[in-house]
Amino acid sequence: MTTSNAPVAAEQRETWTSSTGFILAAIGSAVGLGNIWRFPGVAYESGGGAFLIPYLVALLTAGIPILFLDYSIGHRYRAAAPLAYRRMAKPTETLGWFQIMLSFVIAVYYAAVIAWAASYFIFAFNLRWGQDTLGFFVGEYLKVGDPEISTTVVPAVAVPLVLVWVAVLVVIALGVTAGVQKVNVIFIPLLGVAFLGLVIRALTLPGAMDGLNAFFTPDWGALADLNVWIAAYSQIFFSLSIAFGIMVTYASYQRRKANMTSSGLVVAFANSSFEILAGIGVFATLGFMANQQSVQVSELEGLTGPILSFVTFPAVINEMPGGAIFGVVFFGSLILAGFTSIISILLGVAASVQEKFGLSRRGSAILVSGICAVLSVLLFSTTSGLLALDTVDQWANNVGIVLSAIVMTVLVVWVFRKSETLRRHLNAVSTFQVGRIWIALIGVVAPAFLVIMLGQKLVSLVNDGYEGLPQWYLNLFGWGTIVFVVVAAVVLSAIPWKGRDDEKFVPWPDVDKEVTR
Ligand code: PFF
Repeated sequence: MTTSNAPVAAEQRETWTSSTGFILAAIGSAVGLGNIWRFPGVAYESGGGAFLIPYLVALLTAGIPILFLDYSIGHRYRAAAPLAYRRMAKPTETLGWFQIMLSFVIAVYYAAVIAWAASYFIFAFNLRWGQDTLGFFVGEYLKVGDPEISTTVVPAVAVPLVLVWVAVLVVIALGVTAGVQKVNVIFIPLLGVAFLGLVIRALTLPGAMDGLNAFFTPDWGALADLNVWIAAYSQIFFSLSIAFGIMVTYASYQRRKANMTSSGLVVAFANSSFEILAGIGVFATLGFMANQQSVQVSELEGLTGPILSFVTFPAVINEMPGGAIFGVVFFGSLILAGFTSIISILLGVAASVQEKFGLSRRGSAILVSGICAVLSVLLFSTTSGLLALDTVDQWANNVGIVLSAIVMTVLVVWVFRKSETLRRHLNAVSTFQVGRIWIALIGVVAPAFLVIMLGQKLVSLVNDGYEGLPQWYLNLFGWGTIVFVVVAAVVLSAIPWKGRDDEKFVPWPDVDKEVTR
């Protein structure tokens, strides 16, 4: 390791202006579409109240420990993921690019969902979706067609999609302080208030309690199902934005005196609270819907994924007194939550490209957002976009991110043996001290469990395919996503660095003194 006598590279890295700025931005990244359209459905399908057990186990054994790991790497090596990993141990640069490319893939489809939310925000004012909300979403709005791949772009989706990318570009080009932090400082409190309002309204609807009973009634048998545990771990990774290289990048903009672990606990707690709040709000609303139709909540259909937000919710909103207001606030919240998450991904990708290729901040923001916008429009605003989106999402989140977390923990703990240095780094800057148990969690418990999960998932994807789709399609959009990310990571790390000369890099000197004490 370099000593503190070595020359310190003069750096003018932007920083969050306060811990609150960092915490709000990290919450902004974590709280996203995953909390609103993913969590309630996943929890409901995976044992209801009983799901909270695997969820908490996943949060405590992998979520928070890996969040701390992301933070420690970013804060100690002060760079976006590829350079931070490279500074930690040269060969791990490829892992950094793997994570960043995976985030890039997610951003490309995530933007499409934000674009749908933007359209529905407008539709909500006069309930434009009419009575047949499924027919409207799939037929009239997305114009889903027969062929599995189509190049027919749907303007009603493409236009808001391009606007989303322009907004992302502007924020990233403005930088960490004037762009990302400012957006989060305004949007996150606004989202908190708006969402709380929605939940309170939902709880006062007739039938709300039936919904909550359906949501929380535990199905203990589900705990014996490995798939339920897989669902819990995947949800935690996606939701906390960990092992994507994004939290590494965010932490790299923290100032030297930064209470990293305490901030991490606040972020994790806020994210899970928001998630459970979303579950309560969504199921109270579904209880109302069941009540209106005189059926049980369990008889309702369309309780997961995009269908929940874009078909079932509009149907409930139709029935609700003052539904238009509820709809506007609901889709507005989706936009706020989604936007603060997508800017975190784009900042991660743009900062990585900027550092590697020695570009200006604006230059890399324009390049990266431009590529994303073109791909988003071509892949996800066509009449076959919904299917492609669902397939890419399945592989990126159940295979890609789990693989990323396994490789990351094994390389840090076992191959390059950096965990003790990182632990001491965290403790040197933070008030909440992490014990050796942290190393046991990231080095043994998490990877062991993740390997079992990944094995099971791969077997099921290989044997059973996905949603009855043809093999060539799964090869292209499913396995193809993983191959693309791996190849891109290898190619990008093989390109020589044109950016900063990181040979002179020294981790925070005073932290080092404490580390070697
Ligand atoms: N955490 C976000 C959500 O729950 O919607 C999604 C996300 C953001 C995933 C950033 C990955 C990422 F790097």
